[in-house]
This record gives sequence, structure tokens and C-alpha cells, in this order.
Amino acid sequence: MLNFDFYSPARILFGRDTETKVGKLLKPYAKKVLLHYGGGSIKKSGLYDRVITSLKDAGISYAELPGVKPNPRLSLVYEGIELCKKENIELILAVGGGSVIDSAKAIAMGVYYEGDIWDVYEQGKAIHKALPVATILTIPAAGSESSGDTVITNEGKQLKYGYGSSHLRPVFSIMNPELFFTLPKNQVANGVADMMSHVFERYFTNTKQTDLTDGLCEAVLKTLIRNGPKALENPQDYDAWAELGFAGTVAHNGLVGMGRQQDWACHAMEHELSAIYDVAHGAGLAVLTPGWMQHVYKDNINMFLQFAVNVMGVQGSLREPEVLIIEAIDRLRSFYRKMGLPATLSELGIGEEKFEEMAKKCTRIAFGDEKKIGGIKELSWQNVHKIYKLVK
Ligand code: NZQ
Ligand code: ZN
Repeated sequence: MLNFDFYSPARILFGRDTETKVGKLLKPYAKKVLLHYGGGSIKKSGLYDRVITSLKDAGISYAELPGVKPNPRLSLVYEGIELCKKENIELILAVGGGSVIDSAKAIAMGVYYEGDIWDVYEQGKAIHKALPVATILTIPAAGSESSGDTVITNEGKQLKYGYGSSHLRPVFSIMNPELFFTLPKNQVANGVADMMSHVFERYFTNTKQTDLTDGLCEAVLKTLIRNGPKALENPQDYDAWAELGFAGTVAHNGLVGMGRQQDWACHAMEHELSAIYDVAHGAGLAVLTPGWMQHVYKDNINMFLQFAVNVMGVQGSLREPEVLIIEAIDRLRSFYRKMGLPATLSELGIGEEKFEEMAKKCTRIAFGDEKKIGGIKELSWQNVHKIYKLVK
């Protein structure tokens, strides 16, 4: 096990009706908040009205910034920074999914950052302060409700980059599984694929002796595989949503990756797809992950064999590990299919013409400073290009 520093302080308030407590919970932090949300699902579901009532009851005043799009855009972040300064906002309340929360985090640090906030994403510049962010989560997927990460799309440059800082962990996140009942089927599936990927990125490792976190990863993956189809079939299944919501937070609050070398190649490859083609993050991951597994498994047969047996329940002769691993990858593909997710880039409307450009961008060779991606196997741009081709 590797040395680690685990600090994951986001408070999670979980369960029925918890969103009605938001006003009271905000009181110690702010008299005036920015209510940040997306394209209108919170108004349709009635959540918006409940939040406003709770804010008013607690005497919290607010300004509003709606309009966050999936793959949240830098232009709205700039708008939010100006609004927060003008309105003397003390906290940003993000009501929505990963996109809304990530946009809120970008605004929160942009209020104090002296230069262009995009430099923080592009050049990894350090930040020293951010407005506090609180969230009401409406889709279990990105894990941003408990992470210190934010991912923003610079639509002008067609770049999508992430940034992480302990200043960005939400002070609290409200998670009422009933708020997930209104999700469209494709978003349910995208979310499950993303949460699984957050575990995969940590699970597949060359680090030896990681029994505890292996077990935690496997439990989260099995919970997602068991409950994803249930939520898809019956959108009102509170228990299934409760499992998915909790699993999504555990998948990405850092715990299951402690003491392990991590991978993150699939996320890097997916961000290139979203940046150019504006595809849903989870759908891109569902396409890439089996192809990535196929390309890298030979570098650590034992790790993939453990995945085949412990997660995908494959049985057979352990003397033929590759047979079992291939069966596990096939089962994963079938699971994504069953969830209604795409299996190829062409199903996402992505042709081959930009494969080389994306492979060179994600390994930064396009910017003159090559940085291989991945952990269990380091990937050059040629490897990435092969993976895009494998799943074309
Ligand atoms: O905009 P509205 O109208 O609210 O509709 C949203 C949006 O269209 C809809 N939706 C959300 N909750 C709903 C609902 N519709 C009906 N009922 C509800 N209860 O779902 C759509 C997708 O929302 P989005 O926020 O984009 O989804 P998600 O949570 O999957 O976030 C994806 C973003 O998170 C980033 C991704 O790259 C992507 O940009 N990630 C952020 C991470 C982090 N900050 O730690 C880690 C992840 O790896 C991920 O990269
Ligand atoms: Zn993700």
C-alpha cells in the first residue's frame, strides 16, 4: 500500500425531504447565496419551489444563475463570477448534477482568482481561496457533491479540463433519492457508467497489497451493477436510488483509491470526446472502458482476473485467465447494453477523422509536452489512437 493523505470532509445529508432543510443548513455560512442550476428540470419537478420556500423561511436572500449545460461551459462561469462580485454573494448553492456543481466550483474560485480562471484549468495554477459551495444533488453520477474536483469545457478552444483543490469540496451536500425519480433513462445509464468508471480508475492498479480498498471497490461496483437496472426499470424504486446515490459518493470521495496507484486513462480519453462532440460523459466512458480493458489487460493479468471473478462473477479454469478476462469484458459490454448505453463511437456520432487529434491532445503531445496517461499501463498517443479504433 502507498502512503496517503485522506481528507474528505463534505457533509452529506441523506434521505427523504432533506432538501427542505437547505435554508437552515445555509444559515451559518451565508446571508446571501447564488442559486445556480441547469436547464429547467428542477422547475419541472417542483424542487425549485421547495428550495425557494426553504431559503425564504430561513431569511436567506438569493440571486439566480440558471442555464448550466451538460459539459458546463466557461462562458457561463465568467458570467457567474461577475454576478457574485456584483451581488456580494457569500456562498453558491448548486442544485443539479455534476455540471451544475462543477460550474459552481469554477465560479467559487473565480471570484477570488486575480487572473483568467481558465488558466487554473489549463496550467494547473494553484488557488488559495474559494467561496463555499453547497449542493442539492439531482443525479447520482459525477460524484462532484463530495469531490474537490471540477471539470469545465472551454467551448472556444474545444478543450475540457479538470482541476482539483481541497478548497472546492462542498461544505454540505443534500441527497434525497426521491429527487432522482424524474431522471430520463439515458441519464440514469450515463450516471451508472460514470460511477463505475470512478471505481475502475482506482481499482485497476499495479500497487501490491491493497486488500481493503480492493474489497471496497468491488462492493461499490457490485452495488452499481445490481441497482442500476432496478432504477432503470422502476424509476420510483427508492431503495435502488438510495444505493446508487450513496455508491456514487463513495466511488468518488477519494476513499476507495487511497494507498493505490490510480489510472484515469479512460477519463482523459473521454474528455476529448466531450470537448469536441459534446457527448454525455458517462456514455463516452461506456464505449471506451471495454476497449481500454482489452488493450491493457495483458499488462496485469492477475488484476483483471480478480475483476473477472470477484466483480463479474465469471467462473472457469484459473489456468486460463485470459479466457475468463475476455468473458468478463464481454459481460461488462452486455451490462452497458442492457442499460441502453452505446457500444461504439459511431453510435455517438463520432467518426474516425479526429482520432489522431484527440489522441495527441489527451497525451499533450499536441501541446509540445508529451505526458503519457494511465497507471496500470502507460499509454502513448499511439496506444490511445488504437483504443479509439478498437471501439470505433
Ligand atoms: O439541466 P437540467 O434541466 O437540470 O437537466 C439535467 C441535464 O440535462 C438532467 N437532470 C439532472 N437531474 C435531473 C435531470 N433531469 C430530470 N430529473 C433530474 N432529477 O440531466 C442532464 C445531465 O446533467 P449533468 O449535470 O451534466 O450530469 P452529471 O452529473 O453526469 O455531470 C456530468 C459532468 O460532470 C463531470 C463530467 O465531465 C460532466 O461534465 N464530472 C465531474 C467530476 C467531478 N467534479 O468530480 C468527475 C466526473 O468524472 C465527471 O468528469
Ligand atoms: Zn467521471
